Amino acid sequence: MTDFKNQLEADRVMIEGELSQRMDQLSDGLQKPVVDAMKYSLLGGGKRIRGVLVLEFCRLCGGSLSDALPLAAAVEMVHAYSLIHDDLPCMDDDDLRRGKPSCHIAFGEDIALLAGDGLLTYAFETAASSSLEPGLVLQAIQQLAVASGTFGMIGGQVLDIKNMAENLDTLRSMCQMKTGALIRASAKLGCIAAGGDPAELERADLYGQKMGLAFQITDDILDLVGDTALLGKPVGSDQQQGKTTFTTLLPVEAAQVLADELLEESIGMLEPFGDAAAFLIALTRQLAGRRN
Ligand code: IPE
Ligand code: IPE
Ligand code: MG
Ligand code: MG
Ligand code: MG
Repeated sequence: MTDFKNQLEADRVMIEGELSQRMDQLSDGLQKPVVDAMKYSLLGGGKRIRGVLVLEFCRLCGGSLSDALPLAAAVEMVHAYSLIHDDLPCMDDDDLRRGKPSCHIAFGEDIALLAGDGLLTYAFETAASSSLEPGLVLQAIQQLAVASGTFGMIGGQVLDIKNMAENLDTLRSMCQMKTGALIRASAKLGCIAAGGDPAELERADLYGQKMGLAFQITDDILDLVGDTALLGKPVGSDQQQGKTTFTTLLPVEAAQVLADELLEESIGMLEPFGDAAAFLIALTRQLAGRRN
């Protein structure tokens, strides 16, 4: 357990360091308002699950973490952008994120919108600057673009905001897109950075698909039974917005069982990797009881 905690902490330190350094590279003369807002939302907050997945799938497939680090930073930038836009009054209208006022509360809607756009584009600039061989960089960028795009995260957000999930099947598809796609891409980007073979990529993909859905089910549960102080975002937001979630279609206990089953299934995808997967298995088990 201590080894697990130390490794998780080391990964997070690497990711925070890379993100800070990347943001310091942005000159902030006349663009200071937007750069400040980008830094505010990106740095010093969040669990960094997606970045950790990039690093750890890279390690699992025998790669070097420094090759995966720009990709880990890129995924965290896309994620931070998605959160800024998700909180806007025209979306979920949430005032608190990562324990502080949401970007649009701190900087205004205009700058928050642009800060999200800025992080999205900077994510691709960051991924493109990776020192991996060009074919791998291209593959990684394509995966990230598809996962973030109209049939990935954005597509899921459309179904969410238009309240188009009516039953468990459509809700599952929506969550696999809005949240699962980026988590799935994170696992795959790690394999790509390590030059993983197709079988490894396939297992990473299936792992991400199952874990990503479980992650959103838990997020829905925490919106109902969580603690704002621990979550760092408002509890009850889904209900206030009249959203269909896993806790409106299922009793909370059944939603929890479903999340736990999916996490176990995702762990099953890691077993062929043997002892090398111990860290990722522990990380996945920890998600079962997460409070934030
Ligand atoms: C929150 O993601 C939004 C979802 C897609 C469920 P996280 O729970 O990973 O948020 P941070 O990055 O830790 O703040
Ligand atoms: C967010 O889903 C999915 C994103 C793509 C940002 P939620 O709207 O449930 O995320 P939180 O609860 O605000 O973090
Ligand atoms: Mg939302
Ligand atoms: Mg939201
Ligand atoms: Mg939520």
